[in-house]
Amino acid sequence: MAKDLTFTCSDCGAASAKWSGRCDACGAWNSIVEDAGLSSGPKKQGLGKHRGKSIPLTDLATQEAEPPRTQSGVTELDRVLGGGLTKGSALLVGGDPGIGKSTLLLQAAARFARNGLRVVYISGEESNAQVQMRARRLGLEKSPVRLAAETNLRDILTTLDQDTPDLCVIDSIQTMWSDTVESAPGSVSQVRSCAHELTTFAKKRGMSVVMVGHVTKEGAIAGPRVVEHMVDTVLYFEGERGHQFRILRSVKNRFGPADEIGVFEMTGKGLAEVKNPSALFLSERGEPAPGSVVFAGVEGTRPVLCEIQALVAPSPHSQPRRSVVGWDGGRLAMIMAVLESRCDVPFTGLDVYLNVAGGLRINEPAADLAVAAALVSAREDAALPKEAVIFGEISLSGALRPVIQTENRLKEAQKLGFTSAIMPRAPKGTQGAGMDLREMQDLAGFVEQVFGA
Ligand code: TYD
Ligand code: MG
Repeated sequence: MAKDLTFTCSDCGAASAKWSGRCDACGAWNSIVEDAGLSSGPKKQGLGKHRGKSIPLTDLATQEAEPPRTQSGVTELDRVLGGGLTKGSALLVGGDPGIGKSTLLLQAAARFARNGLRVVYISGEESNAQVQMRARRLGLEKSPVRLAAETNLRDILTTLDQDTPDLCVIDSIQTMWSDTVESAPGSVSQVRSCAHELTTFAKKRGMSVVMVGHVTKEGAIAGPRVVEHMVDTVLYFEGERGHQFRILRSVKNRFGPADEIGVFEMTGKGLAEVKNPSALFLSERGEPAPGSVVFAGVEGTRPVLCEIQALVAPSPHSQPRRSVVGWDGGRLAMIMAVLESRCDVPFTGLDVYLNVAGGLRINEPAADLAVAAALVSAREDAALPKEAVIFGEISLSGALRPVIQTENRLKEAQKLGFTSAIMPRAPKGTQGAGMDLREMQDLAGFVEQVFGA
């Protein structure tokens, strides 16, 4: 009989019966891998032996309302966690290799240990001595964190069973292997199986578990995507290699708001929290130059000001270049199309470069107007007023839509010394924070009033 094989996408975890170059579910290339864990044995049919238990919803009222939380004392981290680490929760911290995940988690482990939690840090990538050396570099060598260099899941569970920690850090989930699964560590079935066992163990014992996962674009090692569904909280640690800023972003959180960010700076002694990111992101800004715009953004619950830069130059190529860092390329194309068709500002024959300064990645559509302003400013070679911040969403018709948290944005801008805001019409009753509000109805009106075009 032919061997029963299944294939899984290492990005999204979708299963398929045959191999193909591209995943049908998520569209990723080269991400389908053979998956022994899913190959089916003899199939059981019919009902199970035991009846699953269901209880009336009203009965739950007797249970405690919220599981307890422990704070690390690092505000940037606690906020991203939704107000501290929830007891018995499972977390995934993903990020590119070398971005600083191990550093962040060792520092967090030490903080939680100091605040009374029993913490075990299990490293599958470094020896105990290496972790200790890192701890010394971070000034944490006296911290009451327990270390273990292990990769076998069975041994790890035995360790955890004896040590009964409140928090366990697994660095990284891709190095762990379970002897019940045949494939190599890092394969989708291993990652999935280990994450599942760890999460189940954690929930049963009321222990929190933090799993580190490397993200690789090639899909050579299983991306931690398959784990995202299993855990309560998914955090991504982002940043550009050349920049010292690192951003911890919650993309999923059962215990708090998603899309919250914490900002850190990588120093010679580990990660330091950045309490006022707006000031930091704007600190490198020089005199107002054409193509430079200050965008008043919001990340999660907190306003963040940053600089958006554009460069528009005649293109030597038959197909002009469009290059974007820190913003969505598709959205840039849309804004350029609206500028061309509704405002008569064409970009034919011009190369366009757009950059969000400081290594920040912006996702909100509220940056549309700031991007448009940077593009027109670069194209017309006209700087915008130095004291103004810009925000607003652009619709395909060229109309400007109001955005959420307008007051928060204005307050933050005022705090940093800006005096005016170019924006869509503010919702009724908006407090202007003493700013001069230049409210615009549509993009064409904006281009005309600001650039006199
Ligand atoms: P690391 O935490 O090992 O990254 P990851 O676990 O995500 O792979 O951090 C790697 C980088 O961080 C490394 O290039 C050195 C730098 N680093 C500092 O700049 N300062 C420090 O105090 C430490 C510990 C690391
Ligand atoms: Mg590491």
